[in-house]
Amino acid sequence: MRERAEPKESIEVATSAKVLSDPAMQFVSDVRAGLCRPGQKELPSKYLYDALGFALFEAISLLPEYGLTRADERLLRRHAEEIVRHVPGPTLVAELGSGSGRKTRWILTALCQREPVSYYPVEISRAALASCESELSDIESVSIVGVEREYLDGLREVAAQRPDGMRLLVMFLGSTIGNFDAGADARFLREVRSVLALGDSLLLGTDLLKPVERMLEAYDDRLGVTAAFNRNLLGRMNRELDSDFDLRQFEHVARFNQAACSIEMHLRSKTRQVVSVRRGGFAVTFAAGETIWTESSHKYTRHEIANLAVSSGFRTEAQWLDDEWPFAENLLRAV
Ligand code: TRP
Repeated sequence: MRERAEPKESIEVATSAKVLSDPAMQFVSDVRAGLCRPGQKELPSKYLYDALGFALFEAISLLPEYGLTRADERLLRRHAEEIVRHVPGPTLVAELGSGSGRKTRWILTALCQREPVSYYPVEISRAALASCESELSDIESVSIVGVEREYLDGLREVAAQRPDGMRLLVMFLGSTIGNFDAGADARFLREVRSVLALGDSLLLGTDLLKPVERMLEAYDDRLGVTAAFNRNLLGRMNRELDSDFDLRQFEHVARFNQAACSIEMHLRSKTRQVVSVRRGGFAVTFAAGETIWTESSHKYTRHEIANLAVSSGFRTEAQWLDDEWPFAENLLRAV
């Protein structure tokens, strides 16, 4: 979810005889921009989540080393009623990146004790939307309207439909906020704030800084599921862009970037190799040891979260912390 500089010139996409659909065009042009740039090669992390990537991420969330999702869910389950007491109603609920929707159940269940709820999961992954809809469809008094859009576009769409007198509760869980570059997290929250009205709420999950060993293990598990998740991005390019990445010639690397206070994920080329992306009509050369940067996951301090909230137009209404896995659920109010 890193924010990238726009390429200076618009990119022409060679379509090699076939006509590509819009999302495929976007994928080709993002891959070209990320792999053909000088310096560090990179790919947008949103492409990790095709159907296989989504399933692998679900498996990651069950790994003993990856406590993040469990901490998030524990907090929401334990404190749902209290969280909801801090949310003024009646309210529409929009969730940015709902994933499977499992964690959201507790909040929706608590909210619908009070009022019927309209819930809008905003997701670019169709697999996630489908899973979320079936996961939560049994909760009475909740109507689910899936929005297959990027976060901000989807949120604007939901906000535009809000009836008079309705508040908005936006949920941004799982510490996806940590996947933005330094500074881009605050810019993103300011954008969210600009769509909200005074008094609306944002429930924000943030993973907290912990000992480096523990963080590294969470992103490089013994079973190799995280490695598979990361390398699936190469497989996805092979499937969708007719590229010829040899998955065995790339390895998963997780490292802690002290200065940025984030875990960085890379795919490292084991040898010097040339890979062609046939749908794009271009080839990419990798030096031995060269990496593709696929994701960063920033780890916050509590002090930093407080500053982030204030600098993006929110007040911290309440915060809940997990003691097994340092993680904070923050309820922010638009001011
Ligand atoms: N965005 C999640 C996180 O930062 C997802 C994630 C877990 C992830 N493991 C990963 C992304 C490995 C890329 C590579 O925790």
